[in-house]
Order: sequence, then structure tokens, then C-alpha cells
Amino acid sequence: MNRLILLVAGLALAGPAQLALASSQKLGEVQPQRSPEAVYDAVCGYCHGQNVGPVIRGRSLPPEATEYIVRHGQNAMPAFRPTEISPGELKALALWLQKSAADPKEKGQ
Ligand code: HEC
Repeated sequence: MNRLILLVAGLALAGPAQLALASSQKLGEVQPQRSPEAVYDAVCGYCHGQNVGPVIRGRSLPPEATEYIVRHGQNAMPAFRPTEISPGELKALALWLQKSAADPKEKGQ
């Protein structure tokens, strides 16, 4: 019986917290667009340039190919959904990547 009371109390406490979490990022809500550098540093740079993926900066990679690979993944690289990288962010990222200079600190796979 006591366990049931604890469970109900726990659910009552967790409820508002989950609601707050859900309302802080509503599905389909427009998030501010991050700069290409910010997306690269936060997402791509985790693998690329860190011996996990090939170096992709300073190679004039065609933006269409970058967009395709980011949305579909390729072998060990996972795909990223529009909720993770928005369409606008991906377009800007792919164009920036094509023009980006190589970073001598980066190392490829
Ligand atoms: C979890 C690690 C990981 C993350 C994060 C990641 N990639 Fe990759 N990526 C890889 C790997 C590994 C490959 C090589 C895939 C293969 O062997 O075909 C790759 C391949 C690529 C290629 C093809 C490169 C070539 O030489 O043909 C592009 C372009 C690319 N990634 C872009 C991106 C972009 C842009 C991001 C950020 C949005 C990103 N990747 C995030 C691991 C990652």
C-alpha cells in the first residue's frame, strides 16, 4: 500500500516536470537558426577532424552531396533529422563547408 502511495506521489511530481520540459520545446516550434560554425562544432566536429571521420573542411565538397549524406547517413555516419539540424541550418552548413578552409589541427580517419 505504501508503495502505491509513493508511486502516485512520484507520478504527481514527475508530471509537471515533464510538462514543463515538453512545453519548453514544442514540436514544430521555430528554433533560432544556429550559425554553420556552431553546428559544425557541436555536431560534425565530434567525429570529423577527430580521427573518427574523414576531414571534410577545405575539400570544396559539393553542398548537394553534404546535404544528402547528413540526411541519409553513410556507413558509420548516422543520419540527422530536421529536428536535429533544421533545413535552413543544413543548407547554410553545406555552403559554408564547401568554402571552408582546412583546419591544420584537424586529423582524418
Ligand atoms: C558519429 C560521427 C559522425 C558525425 C557526428 C558526423 N559524421 Fe560525417 N562521416 C562520419 C564517418 C565515419 C564518415 C565516413 C563514412 C564512410 O566510410 O563512408 C563520414 C562521412 C561524411 C562525408 C563524406 C566525406 C567524404 O570524404 O566523402 C560528409 C560530407 C560528411 N560526413 C558530413 C558530415 C557533416 C556535415 C556532419 C555534421 C552535420 C557530419 N558529417 C557528422 C562520421 C560522422
